[in-house]
Formats: sequence, C-alpha cells, structure tokens
Amino acid sequence: VENGSPKTPGTFKEIISTLPTENGWNVFQHLCFYQGFWCFPLHLEGGMFAQHHFKAQPTDVLLCSAPKTGTTWLKALSVAIVTRNCVDESNSPLLNKVPHDCIMFLEKDFIENPTQTDQGRLPLVATHLPYTALPKSVLDAGCKLVYICRDPKDAFVSLWHFAKGIKVNNNPNLPIDVAFQLYCKGRSNFGPYWDHVLGYWKASQENPEKVLFMRYEDLLRDTIPQVKKLAEFLGQPFSSKEEKYGAVEKIIRLCSLENLSNLEVNKTGKYGNADIGINNNVYFRKGKIGDWKNYLTPEMGEQLDNVMEERLSGSGFTF
Ligand code: A3P
Repeated sequence: VENGSPKTPGTFKEIISTLPTENGWNVFQHLCFYQGFWCFPLHLEGGMFAQHHFKAQPTDVLLCSAPKTGTTWLKALSVAIVTRNCVDESNSPLLNKVPHDCIMFLEKDFIENPTQTDQGRLPLVATHLPYTALPKSVLDAGCKLVYICRDPKDAFVSLWHFAKGIKVNNNPNLPIDVAFQLYCKGRSNFGPYWDHVLGYWKASQENPEKVLFMRYEDLLRDTIPQVKKLAEFLGQPFSSKEEKYGAVEKIIRLCSLENLSNLEVNKTGKYGNADIGINNNVYFRKGKIGDWKNYLTPEMGEQLDNVMEERLSGSGFTF
C-alpha cells in the first residue's frame, strides 16, 4: 500500500480480494500473495492495518517468527522474563492464558483493539510479518527485535500437523507430500520461509544490538545460556543473586512444553474468535529436533535442504 492510499479495513479487504491466491492448504482460508509473502487474508488485513496505524514505542520489543518455529516458547519465556519481578509463581499470566494471549499479536490484536498500544500492556509485541513488511514505525522507533528460526524440515512437519489441527471444514486432510511441495515452492503462511529467515538474518548481521537472532534448536540444547542471553537482550538480565537461587531454572520450568501443555487453559481453552478459534492444545505437540524423519522420506528432506541452501547461498546463513 502506497502512502496516501485509503487506510480503512474495508479498503484493505478490497485490495486483498485482488491478490493472487493459493488454495492448496485447504484450511480455513486461502493464502494470498502480498509484498512478496503468502498470508491468510485475516492476518493480512491486520498486518496492513498495523503497517499504517501501529505506533511503536521505542521500548517495544518485537518477537518475530515464521509460524511453527518456536513462537509459543519464545513468547512464554519473554513474558516470564519481563514479569518476573512483579508476579510470583502463583500468579504468572502464563498460568491462566495461552502464551499467545499474554502479549499483543500485531496482525490480530491491534486491528481488533487499536488502543492497546497505549497503556498498561507489556512492552512485547508478537508478529509473523517478514522483516520487510514490518510497520515503518517499528524501525523508526528503533525497537529491538528477537527472531526465532527452526530447521525447515521440522518447521514444515509442525506446520502440517497444525494445519490438520485448525482445519474447520470436513474435507479430507491434506496429504503430507502435497503440502510439502507447496512448502518447497514457498507457498506457506508467511512464506517463503527462506525469505522470512533471510530478512531477519540480514537485519541481525547489520544491527546485532537491535536484532537478536535465535534458533529453536539452540534453545532446546542449551537452554540456560540462551534464556540468559534473551533476558539480557530484553534489558532484564538475571542478577547473580537471582542466578544463585535458581530464577533462570524456574522460568525454564514454567515455560517448558511439559508444564504449559498440562495447564488447564492449554488443555481445554481456545485462542482467537468464535469462527476460527484454535484449540490451545494444538500449539503444543512434541517439541523435538528431527521429528521430520518420522514423516518425510530422506529424499524429501534432501529436497527441502537443497531448496533452502540454494535460496540462502551467499548470505552466510546455514541451518
Ligand atoms: P512440534 O510441532 O514439532 O512439536 P509455534 O509456537 O511457532 O507455533 O511452534 C510450534 C512448535 O513449538 C511445536 O513443535 C510445539 O510442540 C513447539 N512448542 C510449543 N511450546 C513449546 C515449549 N514451551 N517448549 C518447546 N517447544 C514448544
């Protein structure tokens, strides 16, 4: 959308109705293509609205990710880190809300309630938008960004399960090899995945003070140092006293897949509105490295690795 064009949700809907579409995932909406990425109309409308109207505060930190790369975990850890001095173990917001409901999701919550930007919210904002599609105010305000990425094969398998989990029609589930070929062509929500990663990777190289680039696998393998690094980046490092009495471990336990997925709210609650509400339990599955091997053939793994390698070549980034 160019400056000067009308900026109401109605106009965004009109623009969206003219975009190229991809219907192959067969979930609750088709994907459409805008500013170089694929997106559900629902989130695109929210994203376009945010591009025009969101006024980032310099203290805002954006938690950025492609879907299924560790968003829920990153949100939970960040919420636990920034709230640790004002709540105790028994009243953390994470105990009665799914992590997605603890902070503003730019493409959804802002259009639903644009005044949320003002008072009383945490200085954390989540987005799946690619770096190049972030609202200009985020960059102008000099906001910090945290990005989390994940091996594309595991991210794909996670996405395929998620697509089954959120499907609202009675059509048969999408065969995994059909979904896989769409993914390899970049046709996935907020894809192409390689462009998503590349945008934030370059930004982190150019501006490491402002962009923290994390990997789901590092967070799983090296949880304590990674969580300490995240806390430092969020401007709330753990003091040596906190470290001594186990504050880091406590946060890690609170945010673990096991703990969160066993909370009542995440077993039985729903995220989002009535039409396309997503059962919270769909956000929690295995959380393992290499689960793709249970679903994809070695040849498929190689195909996706090759696509990624080709697209990322020359960037200095490898998975
Ligand atoms: P799997 O489907 O491989 O199990 P996102 O949060 O971006 O939607 O990503 C979802 C993936 O993160 C899922 O991976 C899910 O199981 C995993 N996940 C969710 N919460 C987690 C947590 N607290 N710790 C580790 N992994 C988590």
